[in-house]
Amino acid sequence: MTMRLEVLTKNLHMSNIGSYNERIKDFDWSIAEKELDYQPGQVINIGWYCSDRICRMGKADKQALIWEGSTGAEKRYTYDDIRRLSDSIGQYLRDLGIQPEDRVCLFMDKVPELYIGFLGILKIGAIAQPLFSAFGDESLLVRLENAQTKVIITQKKHAPKVRKILAQLPWLKYMIIVDQEPGKPLQEREVAMNMEELPAAETFQIYPTKAESPSVLHYTSGTTGQPKGVKHVHYSLISQYLTAKWVLDLRDDDIYWCTADPGWVTGTSYGIIGAFSNGVTQCVLDSGFSAESWYRFIGKHRITMWYSAPTAIRSLMKAGDEIVKKFDLSSLRHLASVGEPLNSEAVIWSEKVFGKPFLDTYWQTETGSIMISNYPGMKIKPGSMGKPFPGITATVIDPEKYEPFAEPGKIGLIAIRPGWPSMMRMYWNNEETYNNKFRNGWYLPGDRSSIDSEGYFWFVGRDDDVINTGGHLVSPFEVESALLEHPAVAESAVVSKPDFVNMEVVKAYVTLKPGFIPGKDLDLDIMNFVRKKLSPLAMPQEIEFIDALPKTRSGKIMRRILHAREWGEEIGDTSTLEND
Ligand code: PRX
Repeated sequence: MTMRLEVLTKNLHMSNIGSYNERIKDFDWSIAEKELDYQPGQVINIGWYCSDRICRMGKADKQALIWEGSTGAEKRYTYDDIRRLSDSIGQYLRDLGIQPEDRVCLFMDKVPELYIGFLGILKIGAIAQPLFSAFGDESLLVRLENAQTKVIITQKKHAPKVRKILAQLPWLKYMIIVDQEPGKPLQEREVAMNMEELPAAETFQIYPTKAESPSVLHYTSGTTGQPKGVKHVHYSLISQYLTAKWVLDLRDDDIYWCTADPGWVTGTSYGIIGAFSNGVTQCVLDSGFSAESWYRFIGKHRITMWYSAPTAIRSLMKAGDEIVKKFDLSSLRHLASVGEPLNSEAVIWSEKVFGKPFLDTYWQTETGSIMISNYPGMKIKPGSMGKPFPGITATVIDPEKYEPFAEPGKIGLIAIRPGWPSMMRMYWNNEETYNNKFRNGWYLPGDRSSIDSEGYFWFVGRDDDVINTGGHLVSPFEVESALLEHPAVAESAVVSKPDFVNMEVVKAYVTLKPGFIPGKDLDLDIMNFVRKKLSPLAMPQEIEFIDALPKTRSGKIMRRILHAREWGEEIGDTSTLEND
């Protein structure tokens, strides 16, 4: 073990964070405030910090965004370009009547308009609501309804999904299409906006948002009920800037690649805010995954810092070591990962093939920034999530008493003391669920872990039924609700099942209505039905037709039993089972 750790730390260099043990002494968030020239009570606007400020620092001509599409087309934007274009988008939205705190949804692939539009929305004090572009109409509807979204910015290929639900969205004033051909007819409430041709907004004034002004609304899935809108504020910048600097180790000469989609929190906190506020050049690859295309991208752009996810790393492992040799990946300096457990094999493998270990980072939509992490320069224990970020008080508590365990090694609930800058401020219109996340003054992310005698956290699993497939959270409730809308489905129970690449995938147990017969066609028909309604992520990879679902005597479906069956675990107490 000692040998292995030596190997894993041999390439670590002097880093931004320096010594972790020194940093945690007397840490104060004012470190970040000072670096950002921010004083409490002043105006703080993420849009300004990510573009105008970097220009004022003399980097107006520096590349901010290098974008590559699926056909290989490339677009480049300097910091001055993103400053100017985000002003223009902000002005365009203002001219449409968008007010501060109105929700503006971004529903796009990873196109430049998404990144720059995000900053434009924040510059006018409106709230950016990014939604994953692969969402189907049902997923879209519940999230737009909940947020009472005023405007949706999208591409023409996604517009039909919005049109389908338009009648149910009385608050939605406009659908802005960013790639509409000139002269093509538009439908009700639709407008065309070509970012590159927008007039310069010479007199544009950034809205003077303050620390607690809302900024971003990200939706995340829970076990029961509707998805929750996680409300963040402009002050989140303080955490996102400093964690990007100390954990991702971003430096002035970095060429950074965050593989996450801004439809999810990693793609905004670190794919936009953390990156641009640190003034680095970042690259975006807007196309599907293949090991070949990813390695080519790293080689072509000379990527130095790469922030990715375990599912992608496992897919690269599956593609093998030989393919790596075809590319020049020598530019890579630092690698990190987030979203799901990063198994020790993946860490060791990356050290072997890239000469650098992927450092695991742990956080979630609600925390807004990295909470527990491995740091450049610190001893890595492969398979561990590392230690709390300086300024973060995190522990593992006894799930019965809600108090930290007295001794190391015990498995309990991860608990974090609230109060860091990027903590969510509320679940949109859902105070009760928000309040439920706290016990004894601790914020509970809903995950189980243990801590070893050296203070390293070891992830164990989630404390609810939410399925984490390839780093994306899927609510079994949402999938079950969608399944019930299929004409053949009488009842369903959705659980996870093990998978090498995605860790877990969605599996549905289904009972059929009279007259329907189980079979492959029906199988596929139901899968497709869910894919279109929700998203490809939520689509069950397997459907098992059964005669009856296990239920309690009071009629509640016991997902637990089906879950245990999939994972080969003990079924546990079945005394309340109906057909016992
Ligand atoms: O269960 C944890 C898992 O992903 C959840 C957060 O998901 P989401 O809000 O979509 O944000 C994902 C990106 C920040 C967590 O509650 N998770 C996240 N990182 C890790 C993880 N599980 C294990 N190890 C991690 N490093």
